[in-house]
Amino acid sequence: MRIVHLSDIHVWRYAFNPLHLLNKRAFGMAELVLRRARKFRLERLLAVVERVQGLDADHILITGDLTTTALPEEFRMARVALDGLLVDRGRVTVVPGNHDRYTAGSVRHHQFERWFGEFAQSTTYPWLRPLGAETAILGLDATRSHLSATGRLPAEQLARAGEMLADGARRPRRLIVACHYPVAAPPVYAQELAHKRMKNAAELRVLLAEVGPHLFCSGHVHAAWAYVPEALPNQLSLNAGAPLLRDPTGLRPPGFLEITLHNQDVSVVHHAWLGTEWDARPIYQDPSFFPAAGAFLAQG
Ligand SMILES: [Fe+2]
Ligand SMILES: [Fe+2]
Repeated sequence: MRIVHLSDIHVWRYAFNPLHLLNKRAFGMAELVLRRARKFRLERLLAVVERVQGLDADHILITGDLTTTALPEEFRMARVALDGLLVDRGRVTVVPGNHDRYTAGSVRHHQFERWFGEFAQSTTYPWLRPLGAETAILGLDATRSHLSATGRLPAEQLARAGEMLADGARRPRRLIVACHYPVAAPPVYAQELAHKRMKNAAELRVLLAEVGPHLFCSGHVHAAWAYVPEALPNQLSLNAGAPLLRDPTGLRPPGFLEITLHNQDVSVVHHAWLGTEWDARPIYQDPSFFPAAGAFLAQG
């Protein structure tokens, strides 16, 4: 099974009435869009969509921040631009990012659910979405309408997730957790994550330490990685990075991940845009990451 993991597309749009700029919040939003416009190259989106389409993956997982300020117009643009990837809703899963809940109004009017809700298993989190007989995605939502970029996983969600994964009949052999907020980051990104972390990530880490081998697919920090956190040796932490990011330093090439699952084996390729061409870089491989099918049945 091959899964494309995309995140943090950050469609932006200048859609401000100048009079609204007298309002402090609207002014903040306008500033944010201007900053994002310098940072994210929308003109690259079609090339990204074509690259993903060319891979013909079994499933596409998008871990949030499709928009910048959660305006209906940004959601509409994101939906139209990604149209080529959204043809078969059975093969696409989308969870929200903090920017998709940026304003209280967008939460109140369920903007994310309106435009991308059909690619989630349920409107209430957590949910477990099976991908075939042995693999499933656990969807979590730690976003909130908040001026800061920090998140918090509601206590009920944490408790429900624990119940779902403790249920041997429901716990898949290959578990993939999809959450916009990482619960760990490689040392080079740790400081950046600390500023905009999920406030109660430690509670989720306690739960995940007990659930056995799992992939944790996230975004939020705009850098691609695949690594096993020291504190969570059962987790392969995956971040897709931001596919439209301008990368003047060459240290964070924009792109997405292609994850291949075969029996116990997990391998991850980062499709990185180098400015003039794509580079498919293998960044992780473990031939025995997940339990063997027989061993898993014996445990269950
Ligand atoms: Fe983001
Ligand atoms: Fe984010």
